[in-house]
Amino acid sequence: MANYQKRIETVEHYLVNSGLNDETKTSFSGKNILVTGGAGAIGSNLIIALSSLVGSSGKIVVLDNLSSIKIKNPWNVAPLGNIMFIEGDVRSDIDLKRVFKEDISIVYHLAAFFANQNSVDYPEISADVDILGMIRLLEYSRLAKIERFIYASSGCAIYGSYGQMPLKEDFISMHLTTPYQINKMTGEMYCNFYHHHYELPVVNCRFFNSYGPGEVPGQYRNVIPNFIYWALQNKPLPITGTGEATRDFTYVLDLVQGLVKGAINPKAIGENFNLASSSEMSILNMVQTVKRLTGSTSDIELKPTRKWDTKMRLLASIEKANKLIGYKPVMDFENGLLTTIEWFRDNWDLIDNLADFKPGMSSAVRNK
Ligand SMILES: NC(=O)c1ccc[n+]([C@@H]2O[C@H](COP(=O)([O-])OP(=O)(O)OC[C@H]3O[C@@H](n4cnc5c(N)ncnc54)[C@H](O)[C@@H]3O)[C@@H](O)[C@H]2O)c1
Repeated sequence: MANYQKRIETVEHYLVNSGLNDETKTSFSGKNILVTGGAGAIGSNLIIALSSLVGSSGKIVVLDNLSSIKIKNPWNVAPLGNIMFIEGDVRSDIDLKRVFKEDISIVYHLAAFFANQNSVDYPEISADVDILGMIRLLEYSRLAKIERFIYASSGCAIYGSYGQMPLKEDFISMHLTTPYQINKMTGEMYCNFYHHHYELPVVNCRFFNSYGPGEVPGQYRNVIPNFIYWALQNKPLPITGTGEATRDFTYVLDLVQGLVKGAINPKAIGENFNLASSSEMSILNMVQTVKRLTGSTSDIELKPTRKWDTKMRLLASIEKANKLIGYKPVMDFENGLLTTIEWFRDNWDLIDNLADFKPGMSSAVRNK
């Protein structure tokens, strides 16, 4: 059984700290909100925040097919009275009809076939979920005349590998290196089409390298949960490449802040903007910090770079998000990591059981 209480308290504390106050609650109060992918790493945090913001007269409907984890159990969905979990697929008419019966006014579309290496291994499923599933959801959303459709886009998908830092929204790359990136870019294009053609009030939020409580380590997951998992067991820490590549690691609740603000600010409609920490850290520095904060004796190992992984730097400008919606990340990296490590320790047996590394797959950077 996951330790939900601490997670709920962490989110509540964050809402206060980041200024999402009574005024925000008034804007959300009584709304019924759909979160696709709400059982995932980011969605599971978002739904706790939304549950608090809509209050007892509103409802959060989570649509998730639980494909990201090994067990068919919505363990990551906090058992709060106004959260309704529906196990289903964004590609299914039956499931979407069921969901839209709930008088939905805001849609957060986070469900995706996650992420780069997974899409390289399974390009057709990736396109089916991330493109066709998304079009189906956009259709239901426009027919339901929703107030806002917020799309979880991706900085790595829009800007490719060779943009000028810090990455600004007026640049896009046509040189994408994985099906995931192509699909996420296509997702934004479909949002823009539905906005232009049907006036669907869309918002494209471009996330950068999320980390935080709620993400279980695995073959296809992000680097931070994987390194924490191995460091806590004093196992070797395999870096692909030299460790000099940089990323813009963003605390998951800072992303949630942007998602909340993006749903209530009219200036966000029809826009795209980065949600990131806007600070750059090398992979090596990140791994050393994980080692230090976990007290690990792990060795660091260098492994060959994966062919698609051509990004040497990622650093986002968050000027536009700040101007449009008042987005301002509040979590510093060390405290964000400490909160994540604490979540690992509090839920170790569950996380260890769910961690998903299949030996022999092309993405395996650890097979021992
Ligand atoms: N995590 C990041 O660093 C990051 C960065 C950029 C963009 N994003 C985007 O943010 C979103 C959330 O990312 P995350 O890290 O929480 O991923 P995640 O894999 O943890 O969550 C996605 C959820 O979608 C569900 N899902 C997958 N296919 C589905 C389908 N066909 N129907 C219904 N549900 C389905 C999965 O079961 C999972 O719970 C994704 O769209 C991702 O592309 C994430």
